Amino acid sequence: MLSQIESETPPPNLAALAEDHYFSANPPPKDLEKHTALAREFINYHSAAGRRLVLVTSGGTTVPLEKNTVRFIDNFSAGTRGATSAEYFLEAGYAVLFLHRQFSLLPFSRHYSHATDCFLDFLREGPNGSVVARDEDAAKMLHVLRKYRDARDRNMLLLLPFVNISDYLHELRSVAQLMQPLGPRGLLYLAAAVSDFFVPPDRMSEHKIQSTDAADAFKKGSSSATPQPPAVEDEETFDNFDSSPKVPRSKRLVIDLDPVPKFLKNLVEGWSPQGMIVSFKLETDPAILVHKAKYSLDRYQHHLVIGNLLATRKWEVVFVSPGNPDRWIRVPFRKAGAEGDGKAVEVEKDEPLDPKSLPEGEPEVEIESLIIPAVQDLHSKYIQTVEARNRS
Ligand code: PMT
Repeated sequence: MLSQIESETPPPNLAALAEDHYFSANPPPKDLEKHTALAREFINYHSAAGRRLVLVTSGGTTVPLEKNTVRFIDNFSAGTRGATSAEYFLEAGYAVLFLHRQFSLLPFSRHYSHATDCFLDFLREGPNGSVVARDEDAAKMLHVLRKYRDARDRNMLLLLPFVNISDYLHELRSVAQLMQPLGPRGLLYLAAAVSDFFVPPDRMSEHKIQSTDAADAFKKGSSSATPQPPAVEDEETFDNFDSSPKVPRSKRLVIDLDPVPKFLKNLVEGWSPQGMIVSFKLETDPAILVHKAKYSLDRYQHHLVIGNLLATRKWEVVFVSPGNPDRWIRVPFRKAGAEGDGKAVEVEKDEPLDPKSLPEGEPEVEIESLIIPAVQDLHSKYIQTVEARNRS
């Protein structure tokens, strides 16, 4: 009898359980409601117009070590991929909801922020105390300004910031769920570099982690608030697992991180079941990039993984999608030390480039100018397929 009941009980949906657990244990960001209201209005406006809308996630996520956060773990992402992609999506006619790490690069202003030149270097004093662009920068600045103003004036760009991993996941879930009315015209382009590990709230220190025991006596209510030196100084034995530098364990900060649950499955199956989902895969080892991208596609059953390597991410990416051969997309470049007329050429090769073969500095062409039309093409095919399926 018991076994019959067991066999009739549906297996627990592990992805849903992990979701419930994570979102109830990790509080939402204080602006979630405000952001959700803005996103709803933006999405409904474009949905009613029958427009394509892309959610671009961008930048890194922080991992706080304290609830009153003084210290956090971060990653390298400046948001270049996301901010640049957003501009090319706008160019292609998409409305763009730009979910980005606060203070990372933004579409359009990226041309003048985080640069080696200070923003003020692009300006000079004009007649009657006015401020104007320097002559040599004016044409480009006007071009960028017009595009920015056009995007804002036509309500084509909504910027929503997040800071830490939990903020990001709460915002992603809410926005993805709101995108459902768009059906297949919704595109999720997940370029953010999301932390894989975090400190769960039940293990997180409330206040700043102390580097000495100077506050201990005070906190225990000792009559003497003056910190006393330890009776025996650092007489701890070393276990030699890490003998250099020889710092006693009591003075080390050992951080114990849990894995961040992977929510791509929830995204594909529950939050945004009709939208096209594009994820990125970043690696540093060229030997495993394509394998990891395929693994991710196989595991989450979404629509496209764009693989990139840290060292060459501005020069090449690889598209891995179901039913299609892997496709490398590269910016044309002049090969280091190459003979001939020195013209930029597109290298055709089914494996990662050797970073040493690349010229120094930044590519002349932004690779996102090639990535976005290729994504748009796949998105068009996706919309046709889903609409045909929905009709039949
Ligand atoms: O900002 P830049 O300096 O220009 O750098 C751009 C980039 C290299 C960060 C970008 O191109 C990129 O590769 N981003 C993804 C990095 C990555 O490997 O992510 P991941 O393997 O941790 O996650 C896979 C995908 O799932 C990503 O699309 C990620 O955004 C998404 N994800 C992951 C975990 C999680 N909990 N939620 C997610 O949405």
